[in-house]
Amino acid sequence: VVLVGADPASEVYVKSKGKMTKEVGMKSVEHRLADTTSEAELLALIDTLNNDNSIHGILVQLPLPDHLNEDLVISAIDPAKDVDGFHISNVGLLGTGQKSMVPCTPLGCLMMLRDHHGTLSGMDAVVIGRSNIVGKPLANLLMNRRPWSNATVTVCHTRTKNLSEITSQADILVAAMGQPLGITADMVKEGAVVVDVGINRVVDTDRKQGYRLVGDVDFEAVSEKVEAITPVPGGVGPMTIAMLLVNALTAARLTMENEE
Ligand code: GUN
Repeated sequence: VVLVGADPASEVYVKSKGKMTKEVGMKSVEHRLADTTSEAELLALIDTLNNDNSIHGILVQLPLPDHLNEDLVISAIDPAKDVDGFHISNVGLLGTGQKSMVPCTPLGCLMMLRDHHGTLSGMDAVVIGRSNIVGKPLANLLMNRRPWSNATVTVCHTRTKNLSEITSQADILVAAMGQPLGITADMVKEGAVVVDVGINRVVDTDRKQGYRLVGDVDFEAVSEKVEAITPVPGGVGPMTIAMLLVNALTAARLTMENEE
């Protein structure tokens, strides 16, 4: 895990990624770099990790400080060690329905939906948010021609007209737009299944830290009318880390098979 700078949310993610990796018996190495680190220094570290046979997976925590080009940095990671599935070759493989490393958060969402429904075939899935980390890869996963997928997918974003008209048709609603409590009960179909990807800090003076975490969905009201909903915290977050461990295992297996 490579962390550049000291973004507070990234610190929390990296800490729990390291903790869970060790809990399952994987070796976890953290490289913490100053926020003044140059692109050349970061690329040199990635090159070293690419060539280190004792490392099977590389994760560069995002966002990077502004002076570093994220696209360039991600392209430097060996696609076979790209446990985030962010490398352009993995993105292309997923987009064309081929085997690839799949981004952890969308994979965690798919696994929960698959566990719940068995197959999503023919269901109307609405994804709110078009990020490269969640919205776009999740849309691909949900619509891909696989026995457990085959949903009809609509992707909404900040410029979408009549958002609630679209969301209220959804059998599966995934909120990944980063707007605290943005999805209210009137926007959701009775009996739908809702996955809340949002993790937002809102001021809460009753808490020691001065904030609490809320999702993109108004959980209390929405949970009254849906069949199932994921909580925040404790829903998608732990699944993301679990999928990171799965991807690390997949990457290690692939390397070992290639060495045989
Ligand atoms: N920042 C927010 N989510 C993620 C993630 O899944 N992976 C990385 N590398 N950075 C992130």
